[in-house]
Amino acid sequence: MKIPLTITVNGERYDLEIKPNRTLLDLLREDLGLTGTKKGCGLGECGSCTVLLDGEPVKSCLILALQANGKEVLTIEGLGKGKPDPLQIAFVEKGAVQCGFCTPGMIMTAKALLNKNPQPNDLEIKEAIAGNLCRCTGYNKIVEAIKSCAASTKR
Ligand code: FES
Ligand code: FES
Repeated sequence: MKIPLTITVNGERYDLEIKPNRTLLDLLREDLGLTGTKKGCGLGECGSCTVLLDGEPVKSCLILALQANGKEVLTIEGLGKGKPDPLQIAFVEKGAVQCGFCTPGMIMTAKALLNKNPQPNDLEIKEAIAGNLCRCTGYNKIVEAIKSCAASTKR
C-alpha cells in the first residue's frame, strides 16, 4: 500500500506516493537522490542524518517521511545551493572536516543553532552539537568553525 505525500525539499515541491514505513532519510537519499545527508547508525544516535524540518533540526532516520507531509525540508544540498553557506566555508577553512561523514549533519545542526542564536558561546555550541558524533576531528575545530562563522556573520 502506498500513501500520497507532498513535501518541499530545498525549495522544490514533490508529490509522491510512498510506503507508510519509509523514513525521511531513505526518501531523501534513495527516492530523491540527495545523498549529502548521511546514513550512519540508523538509530538516532550519530546525528549524521540531520536535516532541518520546518527550520528545526531532526534526525531524519527517526522521522517517517509521512511526518514531513506538507512541510519543508532543508538538506546540505539546499544550504549550499548557488554558493556555499558561510558555515560550509568555515568548516573547510578551519580544518573541521576530515573524513567528512559527520559534516553534513553537523553543519545542519550548526545552521539551526545560528538561526536561533547568532552569537553562541563555546558551551552553547557544544550543547547544540552534542547529538552529532565525529570520529575524526576531536570536535575543537568544529566548535572553532561554528564560532568563527558566527562571529564573522552579522545576522
Ligand atoms: S543515521 Fe540518524 S542518527 Fe545516525
Ligand atoms: S570528520 Fe570524520 S566523522 Fe567527523
